[in-house]
Amino acid sequence: MKAPSLTLAVHGGRPVRDERRPWPAWPVAAPGASTALDAVLHSGSWAITSPYQGELQERRFARKFAAYVGTRHCVPTDHGSSALVIALESLGLRYADPVLVPALTWTASATAVLRAGLVPVLADVDPATGCLDASAVAAEPELGAVIAVHWACTMADVPAIAAAAAPLGAAVIEDAAQAHGARWQGRPAGSLGVAGCFSMQHSKVLTCGEGGAVVTDDAERAGLLEELRADSRRYREDPVRGELPLRESATTMGANFCLSEFGAALLCAQLDILDEQHAVRNRNYETLRRLLADVPGVRLPTRNPLQDRLSLYEVPLVFDPLPRERTNAWVASALTAEMGMRAYPPRPPLSRSRLLAPWLKPTLTPLAEHFTKRNAGRRFAGAEYLSNHAVLLHHSAFLGTEEDMSDIADAVKKITHYIAAGRPA
Ligand SMILES: Cc1ncc(COP(=O)(O)O)c(C=O)c1O
Repeated sequence: MKAPSLTLAVHGGRPVRDERRPWPAWPVAAPGASTALDAVLHSGSWAITSPYQGELQERRFARKFAAYVGTRHCVPTDHGSSALVIALESLGLRYADPVLVPALTWTASATAVLRAGLVPVLADVDPATGCLDASAVAAEPELGAVIAVHWACTMADVPAIAAAAAPLGAAVIEDAAQAHGARWQGRPAGSLGVAGCFSMQHSKVLTCGEGGAVVTDDAERAGLLEELRADSRRYREDPVRGELPLRESATTMGANFCLSEFGAALLCAQLDILDEQHAVRNRNYETLRRLLADVPGVRLPTRNPLQDRLSLYEVPLVFDPLPRERTNAWVASALTAEMGMRAYPPRPPLSRSRLLAPWLKPTLTPLAEHFTKRNAGRRFAGAEYLSNHAVLLHHSAFLGTEEDMSDIADAVKKITHYIAAGRPA
């Protein structure tokens, strides 16, 4: 039985957990990963633009991931950001059309809109879930599209958002970069809008270092997406060994956003262990939820009962109320010191993010002007609240044991007691 020190570790006290008990490492290489990478290394085919040597890993991954998400098509990309760019381009909108983006998300959800020649219009999120609510869509007079972001571990209600967007003629694109394997009424994240976009960057639950994908049920859109990500080329129906597997279809103008064969091979292997990892993480999350249920001053985000499977990307611990003299940044560093594992506040809402600054790019000047005008006077109380009260834990912390959850709960309790006692930060 551990006797916790009453002095916080940030103040020199004994931490809840020390370096003799490391946290689960991330990423975790799947059993087949080394063999799969080695096979590509010696295949003579490192890219989908290599002369054809047999089935591409990229095609294999597209098939496997489409089956996982339950869509007819998947077009892999080099990043989640480019997945968003081509999904938006596939909508055929006009220059500077407005696209609704929740204010609480990674900057790429909005910068992709600008890269596609469109204007991000920022919307507040529901402070209970961190996601866009259909009422925010219904309040807009005009929209070309909506980016519904599934934030951290909660899902946006895409069917309700799509219903609110329909009278405006706006399409809904899911940004499921943080939600591989999450489900809404049995339907996987990514399969609920006209297209679903994923990131396979290092921190994500399914990763190959840098990668992405767009999924869709629409065959015509899938063909366009292929061209948009491979310089106006699509796959040949009957590729010939030694010839390029792509043909110049050129029904639209694309760019090069292709995933490498190494990335695709790694993703095929990693996908095989994703559901096992979800099961471990979700079991541990339920344990933590139980351990924190009666702890005053902290809560986990509200999960909509229609979301029937969680995909934990980051777990937000919401500290409310927080006395004025404490910030969640202080709570995050106090937790980090107790646990020996990084806890961190969410990024600021996009409305005041230094990373969303189109006026710094001279070629974006007209869009930057539209952006400033369209977002003037908008308020983001929900996003501000979470940005100032949540502390995030990376999903890898949930790949271990029940004892790990006890340590997180002990660290949280130590800090909430300290705050409740009103001691100085
Ligand atoms: C919500 C969201 N959208 C888009 C992206 C962009 O993905 P990538 O980093 O693979 O370009 C990320 C990545 O962090 C993300 O979290």
